[in-house]
Amino acid sequence: MFVVGGTASKKVAEDIAKDLKASLIKTISKRFPDDELYIRILDNISNKDVVIVQTTYPDPNIIELFLLQNAVKEAGARKITVVIPYIGYGRQDKKFETGEPISAKAIAELISLQADKVITVDPHKQHILDFFTIPAFSCSAVPELAKYLCKKEVDLVLAPDKGALERAKQASKIIDCDFDYMEKTRIDGTTIEIKPKNLEAQNKNVAIIDDIISTGGTMEKSIQELKKQGAKNIFVACTHGLFAGEAIKKIISAGCNEIISTDTIKSDFSKVKIAPCISPLLDCKY
Ligand code: R5P
Repeated sequence: MFVVGGTASKKVAEDIAKDLKASLIKTISKRFPDDELYIRILDNISNKDVVIVQTTYPDPNIIELFLLQNAVKEAGARKITVVIPYIGYGRQDKKFETGEPISAKAIAELISLQADKVITVDPHKQHILDFFTIPAFSCSAVPELAKYLCKKEVDLVLAPDKGALERAKQASKIIDCDFDYMEKTRIDGTTIEIKPKNLEAQNKNVAIIDDIISTGGTMEKSIQELKKQGAKNIFVACTHGLFAGEAIKKIISAGCNEIISTDTIKSDFSKVKIAPCISPLLDCKY
């Protein structure tokens, strides 16, 4: 098996290749003067099984994935598996208003054109896997995030809303602590409300766990509520740290002790490797 990483996911690709004892494909990639991308595969992968690893966020990384898929196909690969550590556009998974695209479907259909199988991590909604026209699977980062949190003497794991309760429950089992959820209402893309609710957080170390941190509004409001309820240390952990705009500042100012994310999107907070969640899915036959 051969593995190639796009620029968004070079390290994850290296980690996966190491796990699978697979060869890492050498590539050249550069920008033309007009900023268009040039890619070239340097190894002979004719008739080989190839895994392409590329997060599809932000937008230029989507184009890079399409070019990689085409380069791998043109080079004669036998089977192409696309690993997408973070799949962008997952939150536009339906038409909320008439005239809108189903963005997740549009992207999934295009990726499916030049691949045999797709693997992603904690998609925002599980049903976006059905938008691919090839077999598509997902894995969860929760076990690896929970392992990291085990070092923090966490007493309580919280989901920021009821929809994320399963995630908190799964993490709490690994950490061996309590779990609960907050009552969140989203008003719009940047405004959310957390309804007060007794969380028994007094003097406790609390970890809030979510799939995505984008504007940081959800975490900011959750931390503020926990502070009111007398929590001791507050950790926020997510699979995909988008950290848009002032997200980090908002979370820190609210009183967070530590921000933890995986490396599905590279940032200063990528403290948890995602490869151990992905590699087992590549190591078995579907
Ligand atoms: C929402 O359902 C997601 O699970 C996250 O809670 C949300 O995407 C976080 O967004 P933000 O950081 O902008 O509040």
